[in-house]
Amino acid sequence: MNAGKYINLVVTGASGRVGRLICELAASDEARWELVAAVAHPRSSRLGQPSFAPADHAPVITPNFGGPCDLVIDFSTPAGAETAIQIALREGAALLVGTTGLPEATRQVLEAAARRIPILLAPNTSVGVAACASIVEQAARLLGPAYRVEIVEAHHSRKKDAPSGTALMLAEAARRGGAPVEAGQIHALRGGDVVGEHTVRFAGEGEYVEILHRATSRTLFARGALRAGRWLVAQGPGFYTMADVLRGGGNVV
Ligand SMILES: NC(=O)c1ccc[n+]([C@@H]2O[C@H](COP(=O)([O-])OP(=O)(O)OC[C@H]3O[C@@H](n4cnc5c(N)ncnc54)[C@H](OP(=O)(O)O)[C@@H]3O)[C@@H](O)[C@H]2O)c1
Repeated sequence: MNAGKYINLVVTGASGRVGRLICELAASDEARWELVAAVAHPRSSRLGQPSFAPADHAPVITPNFGGPCDLVIDFSTPAGAETAIQIALREGAALLVGTTGLPEATRQVLEAAARRIPILLAPNTSVGVAACASIVEQAARLLGPAYRVEIVEAHHSRKKDAPSGTALMLAEAARRGGAPVEAGQIHALRGGDVVGEHTVRFAGEGEYVEILHRATSRTLFARGALRAGRWLVAQGPGFYTMADVLRGGGNVV
């Protein structure tokens, strides 16, 4: 794979809120990224239009892609993630899936594909959230089961899945630390233009501890995805998470 110089990048979900930012950011750094395709829904109203403005260096939005690439980054829908898997497998490219709310069947397809290509499943590409997950695991271990965990997440009203993939990931982190977290202890709020807020609360006798992450801009997810993607193309086949990216460093974009 092309890990040393610029990376040939395909973005699926390229007309979406996060996908468009990834396209813009990658295209603004020509020394390190070549945006070779911007893929959206096969019946997207944006087909044939530039993926971002100004249009000089912007590939047009297409319904699919076939051709050489090093990395596919997907921020779309479960169906879009399937398209991304097919592109990555066909081209032997690394695949970063940022789409959340994936059905179990798609996760199984990803796990099988990870025997052939490097795959990063990242319900949140923020480095801060990855750090929070590690802190949550540690807090659960230190505080013990007497502290009840509650997770509260808030997002904009157009978010499709609830609870968020990040909330589920934080619940997993708490469980790894030994805290029992049932589905009823994860709460989702929807409304307004909230980019993303997650609070993990450990409630004990006479005190509670809160670990809070607040995303203030979607650029955060785009930057994190490019950083993680750059790390991913240098890995062998396998199934990775953002915790692996944090442990392995990676170049800040
Ligand atoms: N991992 C993270 O850090 C993170 C952060 C934020 C959001 N997310 C997740 O990322 C996903 C996208 O979020 P968003 O806010 O950017 O959504 P969005 O604005 O609704 O964009 C969705 C994109 O997916 C495209 N799409 C839909 N169906 C498709 C298909 N079958 N094949 C290819 N493309 C398809 C849409 O194309 P058209 O609209 O043009 O038809 C659009 O470009 C969601 O699952 C969200 O929860 C993850």
